[in-house]
Amino acid sequence: MTLNKIQLKEPNYAVPEQFKREANLYRQIMMNYYAAIKMVHTKLEILSDQLHVNAKRNPIEFIKARLKNPESIMKKLIDHGLKKTTASLTKINDIAGVRVVVTYLEDLYEVANMLVQQDDVKLIQIKDYIKKPKENGYRSLHLVIEVPVFFSNEKIDTKVEVQIRTIAMDFWASLEHDMKYKTNSSFKELKVELKECSEIISDVETKMQNIKSKLSEYDV
Ligand code: GTP
Ligand code: MG
Repeated sequence: MTLNKIQLKEPNYAVPEQFKREANLYRQIMMNYYAAIKMVHTKLEILSDQLHVNAKRNPIEFIKARLKNPESIMKKLIDHGLKKTTASLTKINDIAGVRVVVTYLEDLYEVANMLVQQDDVKLIQIKDYIKKPKENGYRSLHLVIEVPVFFSNEKIDTKVEVQIRTIAMDFWASLEHDMKYKTNSSFKELKVELKECSEIISDVETKMQNIKSKLSEYDV
């Protein structure tokens, strides 16, 4: 057989219609959640600016935001026994996630209240892991809120999970997060130690808050 007689078959690179529709719908949904993240992020920045100008305080240390990645979304759909379809996405509360890290305990509830009191913020769920820490020692305030996102032809109420924690709680959660993904039998003892750290942090935070409050009494 000579070379010029070989028939090279061109692969078909055309994207199937069903695939295009699904991909497009997924992009639209993610754009919607990203818009909601931007709204909540801006709301928090405005509160931070206002506290800075009016009260000369900077209670918000930093704000982080993330969109859940497709693998984590899939894991959640499976864990919750939901269908692997874009229609199931509305049942997940944390596709849009915003984490607010504040300095003191008092700031944490103040920021949470200032956010949920806004007219266009609807509070859907509160999980207070500070009043009632998780078994492993995890402490944070979790809110699920809904904000209206305005598009050219419609308004979509969109859920955002907001985690509010102090800088000390964040410090603790980062280490616990690293440990979560490693399995080793000797970690049992480390987990006990880590839980003790959570209790110590909680005590220190309360003491620091008291000192801070007393100090503010002397402010002129
Ligand atoms: P998830 O399926 O993990 O989202 O849990 P959930 O829907 O029951 O919500 P929950 O409010 O308990 O937790 C939501 C998020 O908080 C998680 O995705 C983590 O980012 C964080 N979180 C919750 N528990 C822990 C914990 O024990 N350690 C750390 N490091 N983070 C946690
Ligand atoms: Mg989550």
